[in-house]
Amino acid sequence: MHDRQFDTLEETDRLITSFMKTRKWRKIVEIGQELAPTERSRYLWAWPTEQDVERIGEVLGRLEVKSIASVGCGSGLLEWIVSCAYDTITFRGIEIDEDWWSSKYAPISYIPLKFMHGSGRGLLQELTDATDGLMFCYFNNGDAFTQYVEAFKGRYVIIVGPRSDRGVHTNPLPMAPGDSFLERWQLLEHFDLGSENINCVAVYQCKKTEDQ
Ligand SMILES: C[S@@+](CC[C@H](N)C(=O)[O-])C[C@H]1O[C@@H](n2cnc3c(N)ncnc32)[C@H](O)[C@@H]1O
Repeated sequence: MHDRQFDTLEETDRLITSFMKTRKWRKIVEIGQELAPTERSRYLWAWPTEQDVERIGEVLGRLEVKSIASVGCGSGLLEWIVSCAYDTITFRGIEIDEDWWSSKYAPISYIPLKFMHGSGRGLLQELTDATDGLMFCYFNNGDAFTQYVEAFKGRYVIIVGPRSDRGVHTNPLPMAPGDSFLERWQLLEHFDLGSENINCVAVYQCKKTEDQ
């Protein structure tokens, strides 16, 4: 990987937006590979390679996952890239702090956002209603993770983040999401993501209960 210093952040924003308009997701993935590490996380904490996007599409296609609620999606760029590459897959982003995301300082949102106002299981069910998958990418709130998962009625939870031994922490970690989560969800697939040898994707399926 060779870091390319784009002239300005505005130049990078402009390039990404113009490739978005022309639906050239591969070009956006290329930009991610060329950005300096400090700039990369401005857009996305886990930048995929082209092959990773294809792998995600293949797995989601095989599992017939068509709609995903991505909790804490940030800019939603990873989600946009996947939905651009595979137009059968749609994402809705869930974020907190609508004031921030509506402000002129916030990054561009690449997917439609819904906001978490207040708390309670009913609200979380509404936010994640009618989706096949619940995704967390570099999420960092273990209690909120538990609440979203408990309210979720779909079959798959997708966790993107660092592998457990890489000295980077998220909550949940894809390969160590916690014992109470593993009581109800079983690991179905996992694969590396990105060229840094840090991140991975873990796909969990809801375990069948006696009444299913
Ligand atoms: C480290 S960022 C990751 C952003 C993006 N997924 C990425 O990988 O680039 C974590 C995000 O989770 C959001 N977040 C934290 N708690 C949340 C909650 N309870 N519900 C929804 N979003 C939340 C934060 O606002 C932040 O945008």
